Amino acid sequence: MMKKVFCRCSCYFKENIYLQQVDAHVHYINDEQFRQDYKNLVSSENSIEQLLSLVYKEINRRENLDAEARKRKDQISREYQPLYPELYKFQSKFLSEKFKEICSQPKSSNEYLQRLSNGIYSMPVFTKEFCTQFLEELKHFEASPMPKGRPNSMNNYGILLDELGFTSFIDELRNQYLNPLAQALFSDGYVGSTGLDSHKAFIVSYKIGEDVDLSYHYDNAEITLNVSIGDQFEGGDLYFGTMAKAHRTVFSNFTFVEHKPTIGVLHRGQHLHGTEPIKSGERYNLIIWMRSSSIRNQLCPMCWKKPECLIPVDSDNYGDGMIKSIESN
Ligand SMILES: [Fe+2]
Ligand SMILES: [Zn+2]
Repeated sequence: MMKKVFCRCSCYFKENIYLQQVDAHVHYINDEQFRQDYKNLVSSENSIEQLLSLVYKEINRRENLDAEARKRKDQISREYQPLYPELYKFQSKFLSEKFKEICSQPKSSNEYLQRLSNGIYSMPVFTKEFCTQFLEELKHFEASPMPKGRPNSMNNYGILLDELGFTSFIDELRNQYLNPLAQALFSDGYVGSTGLDSHKAFIVSYKIGEDVDLSYHYDNAEITLNVSIGDQFEGGDLYFGTMAKAHRTVFSNFTFVEHKPTIGVLHRGQHLHGTEPIKSGERYNLIIWMRSSSIRNQLCPMCWKKPECLIPVDSDNYGDGMIKSIESN
């Protein structure tokens, strides 16, 4: 019998490696290629050898990532005592009535669904009560001695929600609300024939003295939902520019989006964006990267090619959202 498994593209282990020290994304095939291609990144502070060692470190981290994630997830599910266990099971009462109204008739104009610019929508998503409890839960987890993974190579502070036990919560939110909404708001080329069939969900936090902003980038997602959960902060607006290269179109201006608690911004993952520095306080955002296997199997958004080789991941993991059929016994 054949079964479908989620996969990563093999480029994950050689491309799109972010080097924070020089604020650049690089690719690595071998030492010689790297020395040749990145001469221009060398400075008095960063020798090519130092940069290479950072690349090795990142590749090594990626190779061990799934095994490490599994260990953390197991320990969290065994030992962590949630503050609000009831939050872990999705309930529609967590959602703002306005959001449910938008999702029930996504094609008709709705005063709460704001189209901010081409392909950028803003809307209330959760209730205030949910955000308040969720934030307390997140802080409770942060203060616990549980092991914590990094959300991605650009954020140092944050929480991986799939490790904390929110996979089925996000699955339900995606299947029941976000996928149908995205199908109505975006053209086929962004949701594909399979729809948004997997995700990666995490919290990023920005605090004075820790990460305060995020440089211009695109997401490893077809469609991203970014919801501000709180807390008290000033600054930290999101800004959007042009599309990344697979969908390059010319927009002349940046769109700035002020982000208030309970409000979500829905956008295409390849719409280049960043966050401005926060000026005070601390800010927590829930980010859901939603992926479509039908799109990714044709074009990997990280190497911009049809995946050469799909590497299956564990069954409790969505990998990079590609799918392959394998023989199962
Ligand atoms: Fe992003
Ligand atoms: Zn790839």
